[in-house]
Amino acid sequence: MDKQFKRTLVTCALPYANGPIHIGHLAGVYVPADIYVRYLRMRGREVLYVCGSDEHGVPITIKARQQGCSPQDIVDRYHAIIKDSFEGLGIHFDIYGRTTSKVHAANAAGFFKKLYDEGKFITKESEQYYDPEAKQFLADRYIVGTCPKCGNEGAYGDQCEKCGSTLSPEELINPKSKLSGAEPVKKKTTHWYLPLQDYEPWLREWILEGHQEWRSNVYGQVKSWLDGGLQPRAVTRDLDWGVPVPVEGAEGKVLYVWFDAPIGYISNTQELLPNSWERWWKSPDTRLVHFIGKDNIVFHCIVFPAMLKAYGDGYVLPDNVPANEFLNLEGDKISTSRGWAVWAHEYLQDFPGKEDVLRYVLTANAPETKDNDFSWKDFQQRNNSELVAIFGNFVNRAMVLTHKYFDGKVPPCGPLEDIDKEALAEIPLLKASMEKNIEGFRFREALKDAMGIARVGNKYISDTEPWKIAKTDLDRTATILNISLQICAALAIAFEPFTPFAAKRLREMLSSALDWEILGRPQLLPAGHRLGETELLFAKIEDEAIDAQLARLEKIRAEREAEARAEAAKQVAPQKEECSFEAFDKMDIRTATVLEAERVPKTDKLLKLTIDTGIDRRVIVSGIAEYYTPEDMVGKQICILANLQPRTIRGIESKGMILMAKQGDGSMRFITPQEAVANGAQVG
Ligand code: MF3
Ligand code: ZN
Repeated sequence: MDKQFKRTLVTCALPYANGPIHIGHLAGVYVPADIYVRYLRMRGREVLYVCGSDEHGVPITIKARQQGCSPQDIVDRYHAIIKDSFEGLGIHFDIYGRTTSKVHAANAAGFFKKLYDEGKFITKESEQYYDPEAKQFLADRYIVGTCPKCGNEGAYGDQCEKCGSTLSPEELINPKSKLSGAEPVKKKTTHWYLPLQDYEPWLREWILEGHQEWRSNVYGQVKSWLDGGLQPRAVTRDLDWGVPVPVEGAEGKVLYVWFDAPIGYISNTQELLPNSWERWWKSPDTRLVHFIGKDNIVFHCIVFPAMLKAYGDGYVLPDNVPANEFLNLEGDKISTSRGWAVWAHEYLQDFPGKEDVLRYVLTANAPETKDNDFSWKDFQQRNNSELVAIFGNFVNRAMVLTHKYFDGKVPPCGPLEDIDKEALAEIPLLKASMEKNIEGFRFREALKDAMGIARVGNKYISDTEPWKIAKTDLDRTATILNISLQICAALAIAFEPFTPFAAKRLREMLSSALDWEILGRPQLLPAGHRLGETELLFAKIEDEAIDAQLARLEKIRAEREAEARAEAAKQVAPQKEECSFEAFDKMDIRTATVLEAERVPKTDKLLKLTIDTGIDRRVIVSGIAEYYTPEDMVGKQICILANLQPRTIRGIESKGMILMAKQGDGSMRFITPQEAVANGAQVG
């Protein structure tokens, strides 16, 4: 880290308050930011940690409409849930604000006004979709229609959620307004734009030349945006939810959510520190770091910096933007709308006291360089065979044995053997590596270093076997336990950024406040120091808990598949070529009753049905075994084509055909008269 900075301002992407947060958010943004902040604080650096809810934007208005409440109700509800989730996971921001606050409304409007007054915007007239009945302009999300790619009738004007295509409202077949159902019309409207292209040379110099140390995913995305040529970006919208555009002639217009939200970082700082916020935002001594997910890169690396640059007045620019890739869940993309997620607030309920386990697993699998997967089996495995079996087990052995042989006091350290020196020598090396990794935003690697200390301890105590030595040599036992306890103390420090709950319990067990600077030094706990009570740091997670989570996900998957099938079943095959009455009249269709039914051996699809046709008793072989069992069919009245030429199928002569309704997804149902009729009745 550059020495010139006196303080670090850490921001986390403001989560949209239109739903709870899930493990994807946590792994991408909040857990790494929290590790970083805790680490810096342990190092004695001055840090401000800012976040809050992003409470504007179209999705919030849509959610409100769906639920029949106001957008304010929606953001109030989710703001509270999200805030509690962070607290529950030990993520304590200095401020968790809201973009619906008064301070923010004034700040964001003032920001716009200054740029407006100084002529930093251009205006453009464009044609936008408009609902003539509701008398409102329509965001793309407010237009629904049939997807031109897959035929889904519920596609949105920006995207089809069924086939995943990105769309524009023009492409939708039969577009309709979600507000009134009316067909949208194009109408002229004027908006303000930030001419991003004017900032391109400056952005190139600042990032492409000045920040080659940024993560390659971030640097690469910025470069490709810049190479693609920047365009003016609209900073206002025709919408009734947001910060009103503070100029005349802008009735019915609000600031675009991506214009106001990043200003929210500043507003929230002002709310916390009304008199000294500028110390954080307008001083060259401040190092600004934005933690975000990869879908936010363009806004934090190009748009917001251009806004700040346009504003001038000494605003700081980010020194780094460690954006993560995405986390998947059990091999599938996390999706809020489809319910495919592990929600933070539900996790906290289902796994009380296991906040650290989630933090640990999300860090161990952090999607730092590529998308990664979260699976419940891996979660269980990492808990049971890493946290419990290595870290927890080592600490427990050291504590229990000290209580047993030395009355809970740190025993004195005698002369060191090679095995002792080797174990102790690892700690400063791992510490140095951890520092390098955290400061370089490589949290997975840093966690491996911390875990390395636990591995050293666990191996040391297993190899030295103090419980055996105690029978013959208490002095040597004292030395071994002294060293083991020093390693426990190192763990209490090293794990504070990653698993703060366990680290705190461990400090209590060791009855010691421990800080980063002493990590790696010998004798953190002096001989004679009295330890606290032994507690288990981590507990095993049993299969039942994991199975319950998997069952919940399985249910969601099954519901989703059923919906997809029902949707596919609705697809109707086009009408066949015209046919003459004579041709139709040749077909002898009759009602009949199934008397017996059995599977045709060695086939998946065929049933052999013996039926009473009213004319005779005969056998028909039918390909319906995928949809009906023999038991389903016996006694049922059906319709058959009686005079179809007989065919031999699998050695069985089949005389006629069962009439089936075939749906769009290929599934079939037999046709049955609404009320019982005599067998052999002619259908036509
Ligand atoms: N709400 C946005 C998202 O979840 C993030 C906003 S970050 C801010 O993707 F900088 F705009 F605040
Ligand atoms: Zn589609």
